[in-house]
Amino acid sequence: MNKAENCEKNINASGEVTGFGKKSGIIGIVGFGHLGSSLAYPLVKNGYPKEDLLIAHKGSALTRERAVGMGLDRALVDARTLMSSADIIFVATRPQDVLSLPVSSVKRGALVVSCMAGLPLDLLNDIFGGPVCRMMCSGPDTILEGRGAATLFPANERIEALLRRIGLSIMPVSAEEELDSFTVGICIPAMLLNIPTPSDEVKEAMDLMEANYPVYGPLRDWVCELVPPNDAEKITEGRGERLANVSTKGGITEAMTTSLALGASFAAALLRGMERGREITDDIRKSVMDSVKLAG
Ligand SMILES: NC(=O)c1ccc[n+]([C@@H]2O[C@H](COP(=O)([O-])OP(=O)(O)OC[C@H]3O[C@@H](n4cnc5c(N)ncnc54)[C@H](OP(=O)(O)O)[C@@H]3O)[C@@H](O)[C@H]2O)c1
Repeated sequence: MNKAENCEKNINASGEVTGFGKKSGIIGIVGFGHLGSSLAYPLVKNGYPKEDLLIAHKGSALTRERAVGMGLDRALVDARTLMSSADIIFVATRPQDVLSLPVSSVKRGALVVSCMAGLPLDLLNDIFGGPVCRMMCSGPDTILEGRGAATLFPANERIEALLRRIGLSIMPVSAEEELDSFTVGICIPAMLLNIPTPSDEVKEAMDLMEANYPVYGPLRDWVCELVPPNDAEKITEGRGERLANVSTKGGITEAMTTSLALGASFAAALLRGMERGREITDDIRKSVMDSVKLAG
């Protein structure tokens, strides 16, 4: 299903997304950095009541200014208040900060949605003491442009509907490994914008991924919309600059672009991205377990 179809039922005559209704309850966003703020902005822009939104961050003055600039000063609360009041809690902190959250305060019956890349479900369920839903989404720029893509595992209709209303295309996955493959897939536009790649090589790689992970069907359409195949072969201008904007040191995009630069095929670079994702998860698991042991 494409984005237009996703949003069709929720767009009024003025082109605004409507219909959050009372069912959404209080939404809390813990972590108001790049991702957290990029989720809050379209919510408010599309009519989600500011008084039903709570946001919490660690204390940076810059982050506070960002929230105030968005007219969200009254939504700012401490993380404990947010966790004990919100019905839906988006966790948009970095994975290494998860243990600093007051997880025992989570309101009974609240839905916790982890946006933290690399933190696996079993660990999240242990940390939060109950079922958590993992969400992976494309970068803040695409979300703010209304061209974002996301997936949830396990699937959750209520959250999916909410995300559709703020313009994200939802792409279903049937296993956590497929969500991890999606994490690699959303890095593809950045690679194509930085390293000119023949269309047939990209197609071959996408075919290979789709054979194992059906989410690469809709993901392929999304990639083609952002970087049309013919452009992918030509784009060279501003390469370094663009890559610096999207590539985290030691992250998945960097692993894939390095692999390509060293002469690997596009397909091999995607597999390297999957491998790097597993390495990151192992590192996070180890550091979380070490912190728990120290605290115990
Ligand atoms: N950026 C992306 O493209 C992207 C895409 C998909 C998923 N993600 C995932 O989203 C998460 C956030 O990434 P990001 O790029 O938005 O990071 P970021 O810009 O560094 O933002 C992290 C936020 O977490 C807040 N924070 C840290 N500890 C906290 C605590 N104990 N209580 C409340 N807030 C706390 C920080 O507060 P202060 O501002 O006060 O320091 C900051 O606002 C990561 O797990 C990442 O894997 C990111």
